[in-house]
Amino acid sequence: MSPTSSTDATGSATPTLTVTDNRTGQTYELPIENGSIRAMDLRQIKVDEGDFGLLAYDPGFKNTANTRSTVTFIDGDEGILRYRGYPIEQLAESSNFLEVAYLLIHGELPDRDQYDAWDHEITHHTFIHENLKQFMDGFHHDAHPMGMLVSTVGALSTFYPEAKGLDDPDARHMQIIRLIAKFPTLAAFAYRHSIGMRYAYPDNDLSFSGNFLNMMWKTTELKYEPDPVLERAMDALLILHADHEQNCSTTTMRAIGSSDADPYSAAAGAAAALYGPKHGGANEAVLRMLNEIGSVDNVADAVKAAKNGEFRLMGFGHRVYKNYDPRAKVIQGLAHEVFEVTGKNPLLDIAVELEQIALEDEYFVERKLYPNVDFYSGIIYQAMGFPTSMFPVLFAMGRIPGWLAHWQENLLDDEQAIVRPRQLFVGEDERDYVGIEDR
Ligand code: SDX
Repeated sequence: MSPTSSTDATGSATPTLTVTDNRTGQTYELPIENGSIRAMDLRQIKVDEGDFGLLAYDPGFKNTANTRSTVTFIDGDEGILRYRGYPIEQLAESSNFLEVAYLLIHGELPDRDQYDAWDHEITHHTFIHENLKQFMDGFHHDAHPMGMLVSTVGALSTFYPEAKGLDDPDARHMQIIRLIAKFPTLAAFAYRHSIGMRYAYPDNDLSFSGNFLNMMWKTTELKYEPDPVLERAMDALLILHADHEQNCSTTTMRAIGSSDADPYSAAAGAAAALYGPKHGGANEAVLRMLNEIGSVDNVADAVKAAKNGEFRLMGFGHRVYKNYDPRAKVIQGLAHEVFEVTGKNPLLDIAVELEQIALEDEYFVERKLYPNVDFYSGIIYQAMGFPTSMFPVLFAMGRIPGWLAHWQENLLDDEQAIVRPRQLFVGEDERDYVGIEDR
């Protein structure tokens, strides 16, 4: 029977997957919804009544959807990224980070009053409790700023016990404001500690990104005045990092939130996941890689070594994008604006040459490995004066609204439950204990 617009090949109004278990000859009809089947529908497929039923085995969740979400849409083949339906290119061009944070969390762009209230609330929550400085001061002089950030974000939960009131929308709103507002302060304080400089406090007269640059770079001037080009570039970079659907750190945020832990503890876990060089730590790894390559003349040999598996081309490849990461394209454009002010970062030539050779090489083409968001971002950050150790911290600062949007979406989703996957046990069967003398 040929499918009509409202039925599938079996004539069913709900599209179904017919599965035959050849162990028993049994056939099952599994409903297909949103291009997926429910993993729980596999459990009915058994050999006998005592059987647990079939599981889906998916290391790294490469083909598993764990949620329905309305926050961010990515089409990896087409290189499309939209926050709440708005293309990333338009937001990077015309919006600002606080407005994008509002969009991600509330689902709509704010009107003027909503924006002004949001901006005012965040601006007036940038200070951290003075005791938190003692946490910062306790770190070794060469502590990695990301390790400091993970620890102090988690410590925030001890200052706001009301954050456990997850059912109260006002309490959730307050913690969302605090986390967005205090991340830059913690980030800048971590940097200032690492260079032995006193902390520069927030300046409420400045924009979100301008104030971050103030807390990073202020020295003896009475009032720090950010360079408008660098302020704008910082803001655009934060927009580009603000969300990316179910990436490793966001999934971590959802998983921790699923146990009803407070959002500060969840954000600390998400930041810890982001720290990994396969994820948000890649921008730092890209700069190390480009410095090791050292010159444009060495690029061809570096690509050969990457193809031989001697090292991973950091900033290349992506679980979802099998096309150019749209964020990398926008960042390339930003690089030229920043270099007008800072002078060109010589590593850019090596990066461009590396991209050129890789994109023409069969190894990368057949694996659909393109530059991702981390490939060019570090080159800009370095030109703006940030040490490489601060790169994952900048990534986290951008990503906090995305983490919070997904944390809240997960909390409010009646379908969700505490994250507790199954396993395929392939270990030892039962065996008796043997005393050490007899082993
Ligand atoms: C981010 O998920 C997100 O959305 C993340 C992110 C976000 O905004 O949150 O976009 C941010 O994390 C970007 C990615 C930053 N990481 C890097 O740049 C590190 C280098 N990239 C790789 O480690 C890798 O590409 C991953 C981790 C990003 C993706 O890994 P997958 O999807 O598990 O792919 P894979 O490791 O299975 O690789 C597939 C093949 C393998 O070859 P074969 O074993 O099939 O022969 O491609 C190869 C890999 O060896 N490969 C690479 C490569 N990345 C993958 N070979 C050389 N250089 C690379 N960078």
